[in-house]
Formats: sequence, structure tokens, C-alpha cells
Amino acid sequence: MKVVHTIKDLQAELTVLKAQGKTVGLVPTMGALHAGHASLVKRSVDENDVTVVSVFVNPTQFNDKNDLEKYPRTVEADCRLLEECGATFAFVPSVEEMYPQPDTRQFSYAPLDTVMEGAFRPGHFNGVCQIVSKLFDVVKPDRAYFGEKDFQQLAIIREMVRQMKYGLEIVGCPIVRESDGLALSSRNKRLSAEERENALNISRTLFKSVDFAATHTVAETQRMVEEAIAEAPGLRLEYFEIVDGNTLQKIANWEDAPYVVGCITVFCGEVRLIDNIKYKS
Ligand code: PAF
Repeated sequence: MKVVHTIKDLQAELTVLKAQGKTVGLVPTMGALHAGHASLVKRSVDENDVTVVSVFVNPTQFNDKNDLEKYPRTVEADCRLLEECGATFAFVPSVEEMYPQPDTRQFSYAPLDTVMEGAFRPGHFNGVCQIVSKLFDVVKPDRAYFGEKDFQQLAIIREMVRQMKYGLEIVGCPIVRESDGLALSSRNKRLSAEERENALNISRTLFKSVDFAATHTVAETQRMVEEAIAEAPGLRLEYFEIVDGNTLQKIANWEDAPYVVGCITVFCGEVRLIDNIKYKS
């Protein structure tokens, strides 16, 4: 695996490989890689001749400076993991490389980006679209891989690709969980042992809610999750919404959509964790 730091070097490598007819998969990441990222990289390695993994903590998607500063940075360990997974290139640019000038582009995919994370983290998805579109423009991949844990992000990127007519396939990959159910996240590294134990109540509640939903209304299921998180030690619910998995709009009845997902964001101490669960797919 080659570690490349500039757009020019990456494009020089890719031009040669593409001229040989090789297909390219892109896995955008912010580093602090874990088994969830590894699953995206392995999928890309299986489905493409060449896999580019970007490792870049994108400042424009952080609406909270403290969160940006505290975001874990583990580039050496990341590159070792990427090598083991069979990636062809780790693309590790500097902020100046990706943003030589401030990016003033505005992306708006309302109503997808105005609810949930979009409501609680103003500007977040604009920053995500800025960096992801730049990576698409630089790499021009055949396929790009994103985790379903960031459910709303995946929906917005699909919409961006559709509207901007990027000729590439977006591949959504299932959430990877620890054996005890905790959804893998780079932010888990910031949890103390006690907080990690408390955080388990997020996935436990979501799993329980699937059985509960089979015999209860949407409103009752909503309340059950809200109450369970309120009663769990050390957790503070930011939102839980039961939405149409395609439009991300709240539903009132289970029959309102063919694809229904519950999306949750919870503060565990200072650490903001997200997760989701499918009720209908
Ligand atoms: O999901 C992430 O890690 C980031 O939002 C992404 C897609 C790599 C863009 O910085």
C-alpha cells in the first residue's frame, strides 16, 4: 500500500491504473479506524481492482471546535490497518491540500439535511458534501463506500450523487457492532470504562424496541425508547426519531412507509454517539 499526501501524486498514480482499465473504489474516512471501516475497505477491495482510502479529519463538517480538537487522530495505526485490509492507497492530505481557499460552496438537500443531525449540527452536512464531492472529483471512483451507521449522511450523499450526476455507485454497508451490541465508532475511544458500560443501553434499547414495535404503535415505541434512555445512567437523549428510511421524515403509523428506521443520538458523558435500527426494510 502506498501512502500519498497530495492530489497531484494520487491522480498521477490513478491515471496509470485507470488507463489499464482498472476499477477504483473509494472509502472516505476521518481516520481513527476500527473494524467498521475495515468492513468498508474489505468490501471495496473485493469489488474493485484499486481501493483508495482517504484519511482526513474534515474541519468544515465540525460545528463544534471542541469536537474537532478532540477527534482522535491515529494515522500510523490507521495505515497499518489499511495495509492489512488490502487497500491500494491511503490518501492522507493536509487541510491546506484539500482547502487551499475556504470552500464557499453551499449544498442543500432539504428536507433530507434539515432534520435530525441537520437540525442539531447546523452546517455539518454542508461540510460533509464539500469534502465528499472534492474526493469524488479528485478520485473519480467507480464506487464509493459508506457505513449505514451514519444513516442520514448516506441518504444525503446518495441524493448529492443523483442531483450532481456523478457517474458512480454508492455502496451502503451494514453497521458493525461489538459482540455486546455497541455500534463501532471512532468516538468510542473517548469513553471511559463506566461510560462504555452506560453506552450499551443505547443498542440494548434499540434492539428491545424492535420486538416492542411489533405490538405497539409508532408513538408508543417512540415513548418507550425515550423513557428507557432517560432512565439509563449517564445518558442524555438528543433525539430519537422513527422515520421513513427514504425521505427521513417522521412517520405516524407503521404503514406510512415501506422502509422504516429509528435514528438516535445520545450524549454519553461528553461523547455524542449515534446509532440506528431498522423496523421495516
Ligand atoms: O463518515 C465520516 O467519517 C465522514 O463524515 C466522511 C464521510 C469521511 C467525510 O469526512
